[in-house]
Amino acid sequence: MLRACIFDLDGVIVDTSRYHFLAWKRLMESLGSDLSEEENNCLRGVSRIESLRLLLRMKGMSVTKEQFESLIELKNTWYREYIAGLSEKDILEGALELLRELRNKGLKLGLASSSKNAREVIDRLGIGMYFDAIVDGSMISRAKPDPQIFLLCAGLLCESPSECAVFEDAASGIEAARSAGMVSVGVEAENSLERADMRVRSLLEADIDKLSECVNLR
Ligand code: BG6
Ligand code: MG
Repeated sequence: MLRACIFDLDGVIVDTSRYHFLAWKRLMESLGSDLSEEENNCLRGVSRIESLRLLLRMKGMSVTKEQFESLIELKNTWYREYIAGLSEKDILEGALELLRELRNKGLKLGLASSSKNAREVIDRLGIGMYFDAIVDGSMISRAKPDPQIFLLCAGLLCESPSECAVFEDAASGIEAARSAGMVSVGVEAENSLERADMRVRSLLEADIDKLSECVNLR
C-alpha cells in the first residue's frame, strides 16, 4: 500500500538546474574552458564534488587539491547568488497541487535532495510545511545512485521502503530509488528516464491512483 511519497528537489519541485548550469559555466569559463547544456545534463543529480571531478575529466584538465577546494567554493558562491531571488513563483507546475492532494489523502511526504543548499531553497520557496521529513546533502555520506538518501528519508518517515514512491528527474536518482526497493516516478520533460516504473513530463501529469496500483502490484 502506498503510504509515503519522497520528492527530489532540484528539477522536480523547482527548476534550479539552470542556476547550477550558469554557475558551472561561469566557473569553466574562468578556467578558459566552456560548458554546453548537453555536457551540463551529465551533472543532473550529481554531488558538487563529483560534478567538478566529472567536468575536469571531461575537459582533460587537472588542478591541485587546494584549487579544487576553492573552485567548489566559488561555484557554490555563484550558485547561491543566482538562487537569492528564488520565490514561490519558481515552483514547477503541478508541484503544489500534488503536494496538497497527497497530504489530503493522508500520505506522508518526504524530501530527499543531494544538495547541501536544499534547506535554503525550501525556505525561499516557502514549502517546508508540506514535508514530514527532509534529508539534504549534509546528512548523507554516499551520493545517489546509492539508496542511502531514500532509505534515511523512509526511516525518518517511519515507513517501509516498499510502501514509498520516489519522484526524481535524474537517472542516478531513479537507480537510487530502485536500489532502495521503492517505486520510482521519472519526472522529466524529454520523458527519457527509461528505468523509472512510471514516467511523467511534469508533476501535472502525476496520477496517484495509478501510482498506488503500481505499488500494490509489486
Ligand atoms: C542536486 C543537483 O540536487 O544537487 C546537482 O541536481 C547538484 O546539480 C547537487 O550538483 C548538489 O548541490 P549543491 O547545492 O549541494 O552543490
Ligand atoms: Mg534532481
